[in-house]
This record gives sequence, structure tokens and C-alpha cells, in this order.
Amino acid sequence: MTVGEYLNKARNQQQISIRRLAALTGISHSEINKIENGERTAPSALHLKSIADILGINQIDLFKVAGYIDNDVYTVPANFAFKYDGLSDDEVVQVQSYIDSIRSKHPESDKTAETNEKKNIKVASLFAGIGGICYGFKQAGADVVWANELDKDACKTYRKNFGGDYLVEGDIKEIDPHDIPDIDILNGGFPCQAFSVAGYRKGFDDERGNLFFEITRILEVKKPRAILLENVKNLETHDKGNTFRVIKEQLELLGYHVHKKVLNSMEYGNVPQNRERIYIVGFLSEDAYNKFKYPEPIALTKTIHDIIDVTDKKPLGLYYNNSKYYPELKKVMKNKNTVYQWRRVYCRENKSNVCPTLTANMGTGGHNVPLILDDYDIRKLTPEECVGFQGFPESFEFPDDISNASKYKQAGNSVSVPVIKRIAENMIKAME
Ligand SMILES: C[S@@+](CC[C@H](N)C(=O)[O-])C[C@H]1O[C@@H](n2cnc3c(N)ncnc32)[C@H](O)[C@@H]1O
Repeated sequence: MTVGEYLNKARNQQQISIRRLAALTGISHSEINKIENGERTAPSALHLKSIADILGINQIDLFKVAGYIDNDVYTVPANFAFKYDGLSDDEVVQVQSYIDSIRSKHPESDKTAETNEKKNIKVASLFAGIGGICYGFKQAGADVVWANELDKDACKTYRKNFGGDYLVEGDIKEIDPHDIPDIDILNGGFPCQAFSVAGYRKGFDDERGNLFFEITRILEVKKPRAILLENVKNLETHDKGNTFRVIKEQLELLGYHVHKKVLNSMEYGNVPQNRERIYIVGFLSEDAYNKFKYPEPIALTKTIHDIIDVTDKKPLGLYYNNSKYYPELKKVMKNKNTVYQWRRVYCRENKSNVCPTLTANMGTGGHNVPLILDDYDIRKLTPEECVGFQGFPESFEFPDDISNASKYKQAGNSVSVPVIKRIAENMIKAME
């Protein structure tokens, strides 16, 4: 049934004329007519909301019929923002956050995690960092039972947030796969610098590239039912596609059926960060491989102000007023609604009003932490804001005894948790 037919039926049941509905809602007679006869294929969500109020229709049902809320997961479809006529930007944001709030309050949105908990899916995490991927799997209802990470500071952060008595601190090369408990899913955001175009294009010649083969060494013994590997977007095209070809072949040799897709966090995770990453998902079972679907895009309803409080004065060390670049920055940075990226010689505003890709090397050797203008002055993002742009839960904390440089590195090295959560949910569903 179309949304027009649905409304027409409800209006007739209530015995309300179009003219009366128009008077009660303030929507024009012709607009209601267009919605009902299907001429308006994408009616304004605000209009639908007012009509639902007057006709006593359940708003969620109406939004579902209109295709504005996904039936199962209460997400806002990506094309949602384009489904209006004549709404101002503010109204669009208003409607989107309204739908977001329906979703977050609706028990259905938590149902997936609860159901998955019962399935008792066990997960191990390689190159676990500060646990971005672990958070995603936990939020999807899986049980993280083992993890490995080399970096001492990252391990401190991991333990602070996960307890993590299962976290093995040390080089993956030293790990005997037989010491890893039995698991259903193995994941790993393996070190990516070697594959990054921004890096040195070293590929498998680089020691870091070789760490991929540590993953296959573990897969060979543990044979988990599924894998999720995350890396930079350019992994796919690195060395004319040879690097990725090798990875896929190796996984296939081990019996995995492999999907890959590049997802941008701002399109698939409702986090305001422009972060494109490749997500490689593999299953031993062909049936699970066929059933698996990457998540659909969702609308970006969060803005940088969900993460940054421009009224909050930060420690002086974060402000740039003593920098020799200050006069230059001052000329460019006028907008409090965006995040700026400072390259050695120029400063760039992010037109899409989202945070640029956070990187592991930000804050070191000429690679800068993104900048903002707050109510006090120009400053760089705090490490806490950086993990906020990765969609980490509010409960997340860095330990006190690690440097800021370490914190920035950890945040940039990590993943966007909501994207992982959505992929993990679909993986678990496919494995049923
Ligand atoms: C791209 S990051 C992954 C971060 C992680 N996905 C997260 O959410 O924080 C790669 C991680 O691999 C770790 N690493 C690098 N070499 C390693 C090795 N030989 N053994 C174990 N971990 C290693 C790095 O310290 C880094 O934390």
C-alpha cells in the first residue's frame, strides 16, 4: 500500500474531509490531494507527522509505509533527506532527529543485540588497538573473548574500558594460535600504513604489510566461521589491485567466501566524519556468504555539535593563539559549524561540515589534528572529541598516564564503532 492510499483510508475511516484536514493541519488542500493520489511520491515528513497527529494514526507505522523508517531496524534511509518539499534545512534536521529519537527510544532497536546475546557468538580481535571493533561486536550482542595488541599505551586504554583480562599484550608473531580459545568470528583492523596511498606505497615489501599473513596463520588453525577485516580504502587499488588480489586469494585458499565494500562512516554510521574504509567480510559457509548484506546507508543526523561543545573552554595548550600561523588561521576560520584541516601551508574548511578523516599520525611531523573555532578561539580537537567522531560510547575514557600524542594516535588508528556494529549485526544474522 502506498502512503497516499494509507492516508486516504485512514481519513475516510475518520470521516474527515480533505478541506477539514487541511484546516486542522495547516497543510494546503492541494498538497494533501497530491499526497493521497500519489502525485507527491516523497511527502514532507513534517506533513506526515501533522496528519498522523490529527488522524490518530501511529506515526511510526505511517513513516514505515512512507519508507522513511526501515521496517526492521528503525534506521533512517539515506535518501530520507531528499524526501521533502519546501522544508528548510533546520526543519530537515528537526525531522531527522525526531526519527532518530523514535528509533533510539523504540525497544525494537535494542532487540537485535539482545537476540544476538542469546546466540553466544564468540569473537577474537587481532590488532585490537583501543577496541573500536570490539565495541562494535559487543554492541551487536557478541561476546569478545580474546584480543591481541602490541602497543603498550593502547593496551592500557583497552584495559581501562574493557577490563580485558583476555587481552594479550605483545607481538602477534609470538602468538601460538592454539592458545586462542575457540571462536566464531575473527576480526582485525590490520596495520594499514603500508597500503595507504598517503603512506609510502610499500605493500608487501613492508614489514607491516606482512602482518596480514599473521592473520592467515591464525585462521589456518582456528578456522572461525567468519572474519571481518578492516583497512584503508586504497587497499583495493594498491599496486594495481595486486595487494588485494593476494589477500582475497589467501582467504579463499583457507575456504572463505569473501565480500568487500568501501563504506564511509558519515553515510553508514551516522557519525560526522568523512572516513572511507574497506570492510572485508568472509564466511566459511557459502550459505552465510549469500545471505550476508552490507548495511544500507543511513541519514547523517548527527552534526559536529553532537560531539563538540563550542561553549566549553578547553586547556590553554589546545589553543593556537600563540602559533606563528595564527594570523593566517584567523583569516580562514570563521565558521563554528565545521572542522578545519590545516595542511602545512594552508587551512581548509570541510564543506560538508563533518570532520575530515582522523589519522594515526595526526599531531606528529606536520600532520595536524583537525581544528575548530569555538567561543574562545581557534583550537585543535581534544583526543576525547576525536573518539567522539569515531562514534565511541560516552562511557569511554583514556587512561591518565598516557601522552596526548598516544591518545591522538589511538583515536586515528581506530574505527567508527557504529559502522562495525551494523556490519557485525548483519554478519551474525547471516550466520544463523
Ligand atoms: C589500524 S590499528 C587497529 C586499531 C583498532 N581497530 C581499534 O579500533 O583501535 C592497528 C593496530 O595494530 C597494532 N600492531 C601493529 N603491529 C602489531 C604486531 N606485530 N602485533 C600486534 N599488534 C600490532 C598497532 O599497535 C595498532 O594498534
